[in-house]
Amino acid sequence: MGQKIAVIGTGYVGLTTGACLSHLGHDVVCADVVPEKVDALNRGEIPILEAGLDELVHAGVAAGLLSFVLGAENAVGDAEFVFLCLPTPQGADGAADLSFIKSAAAHVGPLLRPGSIVINKSTVPVGSAGEVAKKLERDDVSVVSNPEFLREGTAVDDFLHPDRVVIGSDDEDAARRVADLYAKLPGEVLITDPASAETIKYASNAFLATKISFVNAMAAVCEEVGADVSDVVKGMGLDQRIGNKFLVPGPGWGGSCFPKDSHALVRIAENSGYQFGLLRSVIAVNEEQFGRVANKITRFAGGSVEGKTVAVWGLTFKARTDDMRDSPAINIINRLLEVGATVRAYDPAVDDSDDPRLAGVEIVGDPYEAVTGADVLAVLTEWPEFAELDFAKVGDLIGTKAVVDGRNLLDGAALKAAGFAYDGIGRR
Ligand code: UGA
Repeated sequence: MGQKIAVIGTGYVGLTTGACLSHLGHDVVCADVVPEKVDALNRGEIPILEAGLDELVHAGVAAGLLSFVLGAENAVGDAEFVFLCLPTPQGADGAADLSFIKSAAAHVGPLLRPGSIVINKSTVPVGSAGEVAKKLERDDVSVVSNPEFLREGTAVDDFLHPDRVVIGSDDEDAARRVADLYAKLPGEVLITDPASAETIKYASNAFLATKISFVNAMAAVCEEVGADVSDVVKGMGLDQRIGNKFLVPGPGWGGSCFPKDSHALVRIAENSGYQFGLLRSVIAVNEEQFGRVANKITRFAGGSVEGKTVAVWGLTFKARTDDMRDSPAINIINRLLEVGATVRAYDPAVDDSDDPRLAGVEIVGDPYEAVTGADVLAVLTEWPEFAELDFAKVGDLIGTKAVVDGRNLLDGAALKAAGFAYDGIGRR
């Protein structure tokens, strides 16, 4: 039997959670405070690029198991489970800002059904389950931490095929009831206390960011010693204790989670008296990586980008998403703009040249147009289609045959054979 569920917030996490829970047979009402967003969702328009999400939303709505309403107060009255999926942006001191979550809890507290369960799905600082409980002011409602591990671009698949479901609660019965919502899914269910569940989320993201910074640092070493990072990663990854995942070198990590969560974990640790030097270094290596890629582009542009045109392929923080939040590509572009480059960019998922993050960047709708007359081409997002483009044509159009491949996506040997200067990340 499906359960009655309210989801507060229809961002990445909320919309995916709502759509997937309806797919599992639950009766889901999603609430948001933005009228245009709710109207669009009710018309079946999905505001984000996310594989499989449209289908699930349409199927859920058609089955009468998924609906969208304006305001949390219109969603929670009937619900046995209320998922809080609200933003926790980075505050001025690096810590996560809990104000959206706290005000939603205060708002819905008086409206909740006796015996219902409020679930923190957003990434929240350790201790937030207690903070939410305080704001609810309800002895008859349990608060459970149930962090989400989905990745943008594969959010639906990640939700429906989790490696694990983590549930943190001091109330064993509430934890079991939340676990039952996911009964149809594979993956181990780990029930623990709220602080441990909240910490698992931060630890997981920080560890993944650490892997990437490690491999980016190793790529720098490879360049110095004449090794090839792809083979090095392959050789490391065959050791099953290490594994080969999340060891793809690139222009640095970005997105809406790793930067915010790594800073927040540094703050959480330091507020409790532990100086998290390791994680600080992981963040510093990432900043260095943006600079290293900008330097490669500068070198290929002849030592200075001032007055030069840099063609950029890829603006989103990774492929298969239209999200540019904390995108390494944007960081690198800004470094080039600051020293006088002209940047002409193409991304298959970006056509909004009015986006303030793209101020000063010329956005074009065609990868060949981007390279025409350019002094250097930089590949900054790993869209697979870039590797399929016609490089003979690129060679004819580009001003100088120079490519910096920030994602090791292209066939460097073939490009060199075709007369391009080519540089990747840690490649021979
Ligand atoms: C990340 C985590 O992977 C999810 O498990 C987590 O739920 C999510 O954050 C979150 O906290 O909400 P996401 O931000 O969607 O997911 O993106 P990732 O696929 O993890 O990539 C993050 C960044 O690392 C991207 O810029 C990507 O290009 C980069 N990356 C990733 C690498 O440079 N190398 C890799 O091997 C993997």
